Amino acid sequence: MRKKLIAGNWKMNNTLSESVELVEGILSKIKNYDDRLVLLAPPFTFLYRISGIIKETGVKLGGQNLYFEEKGAYTGEISGKMLKSVGCEYVILGHSERRNIFGEADELIRKKIIRAKEDLIPILCVGEKLEEREKGITEEIISNQVKNCLKDIPLNNADELVIAYEPVWAIGTGMNATPEQAQEVHLFIRELIGSLYSDYIKEEIKILYGGSVKPDNSASLLSQADIDGALVGGASLKVDDFVGIIENI
Ligand code: PGA
Repeated sequence: MRKKLIAGNWKMNNTLSESVELVEGILSKIKNYDDRLVLLAPPFTFLYRISGIIKETGVKLGGQNLYFEEKGAYTGEISGKMLKSVGCEYVILGHSERRNIFGEADELIRKKIIRAKEDLIPILCVGEKLEEREKGITEEIISNQVKNCLKDIPLNNADELVIAYEPVWAIGTGMNATPEQAQEVHLFIRELIGSLYSDYIKEEIKILYGGSVKPDNSASLLSQADIDGALVGGASLKVDDFVGIIENI
């Protein structure tokens, strides 16, 4: 049985005091769930502080990115070990904003996953652009991203990796995929993971949906057979919306 995971990707938003207020607001409204996981991915600068606040609440912490080298002269970069040392268990990699704004390609993302796996659980994001969906090549795009980013990366267990399907046209646009559209791609990804790894990993790996997830569409998305949670951007910055998504499962 795959536990649902609701992850809040705060992106580049809020100051420290606003972040503390947000996390305290969330904590005041959620319960100590044993049937679902809650993960927060604040900006790097707030991780340490938030790590102290969520300690012993069961809420998990994740980074929004990392660099693939272990350490050294890489001005402005953050390593997996650094993230782990402040309490992170997860890291988001290959987000479409990293791909499209910062030019990250599959090979770089692959290197980051390899390094991340030493200390953290990578959340690999994949997704097609609107013109790719319209051309009918969604599966080809997703398949290439998954295969390239995971090339020669072994998985001993399904909990060593999370995949997030985020159609680029649905991110921050208010235009979410329908539950049926999302389910179709999730099933495709699950089958692909089965062909790359094993039936066991195929059944157990978590595949999240992301792209304009809100309390009013989350229940129908999350009730699909192959959708194991949500990667939430905009709605994760509002206490009631984020808690609503968690509670609506
Ligand atoms: P959104 O972002 O919920 O604001 O669409 C999702 C994401 O980018 O992970």
